[in-house]
Amino acid sequence: MTPEKDTTQIQNRLCSSALEAEEAGKLAEAAALYNQAIRCDASNPIPYLFYGFVLQALGQPDAAAQVWSLGADLDPRFINAWQGEGGDEIIRLRSKAANDAIRSHFAGLHETCMDEFRGANPGANVERIAAAIWCQTHNEAFEYQHPEQRPHLFFVPGLEPIPVYTAQRSPWFEILETAWADIKGEFLAAQDAAADEQAPYLDAGAKGLGVEWEPIAASLNWGSFHLYKMGAPNPRLIELFPNTLRALEQVPLVQTPTGPSEILFSVLQGGQRIPSHFGVANTDMTVHLPIIFPGDAAIRVIDTDYEWQPGKVFAFDDAFRHESWNNSALPRVNLLFEAWHPDLSEDEQHAVTAAFHARAHWNQGRSLEH
Ligand SMILES: [Fe+2]
Repeated sequence: MTPEKDTTQIQNRLCSSALEAEEAGKLAEAAALYNQAIRCDASNPIPYLFYGFVLQALGQPDAAAQVWSLGADLDPRFINAWQGEGGDEIIRLRSKAANDAIRSHFAGLHETCMDEFRGANPGANVERIAAAIWCQTHNEAFEYQHPEQRPHLFFVPGLEPIPVYTAQRSPWFEILETAWADIKGEFLAAQDAAADEQAPYLDAGAKGLGVEWEPIAASLNWGSFHLYKMGAPNPRLIELFPNTLRALEQVPLVQTPTGPSEILFSVLQGGQRIPSHFGVANTDMTVHLPIIFPGDAAIRVIDTDYEWQPGKVFAFDDAFRHESWNNSALPRVNLLFEAWHPDLSEDEQHAVTAAFHARAHWNQGRSLEH
């Protein structure tokens, strides 16, 4: 017997014993057995579904939400299995329970976070952010307001949908364009001095998005030099970009509690394509400052193609459908970062940062030990 088959059999046996314990009303015993079953093969979402159900029956809703949410990360079908026809009835019922619990949990988390924010910032008008939609886990049906703008994580209704910022240049565009030669000089020096800091922009998980993503998943076909990634600085790179960072001080960058959300140099090799997709949120603009433009490379937002101009800011809302390509034989390099949507007040910016932090903090604290 192969070790893989062995593991599956042990996991199945543990789940059967757990179900028997459930039927005998021994819920704590069932919970311990499901926990063990997950330990056998943490990549199988099914035991998470059952473990969460028992924790909820034991009167531990937050623990159940943690386990179910970890299971949903493994497979999006986890909270959707109840919607389809057929399938195992017990899985459908527990998928529905998981779906309801996760949605109710995240709605409560957002509400609490906004209440705390208003408590700490009396007078702040953050009603639009309080009414925001966490698209994957919203607890009510909702509709996007523009057919091509479909952020997959966070959507604030009522923010003006601006696909491309051609007519609405912010004052800081010019500051960056003035600093372009310095920024380019710093990049050219850093790509030699810190070549090993380049990493694939996407991890291997992107292969799951479809066959057209495979050439750029976990590959330097789309590489990045990240000065900041999800708020975490790369001290070695930061040291190499003093003028770049000085220019960016003038920009209303999207922030996390530890620093700018993302500042990077995006390197798309010749012959590569980033397939059509939607970004995370409609609360920011994605900004490109083209550093090296090899020609025959462009970005499409909705159905319009834009060719980058070296040294000229190109800003767009990545919540709109977009894709890009480099059909030349040479790499294309852009400085890339996120700046707040110009309609957001400072209070609203801080409220968005707080909402993302609350969710990330809860996600990081999730555990299987209950
Ligand atoms: Fe994108």
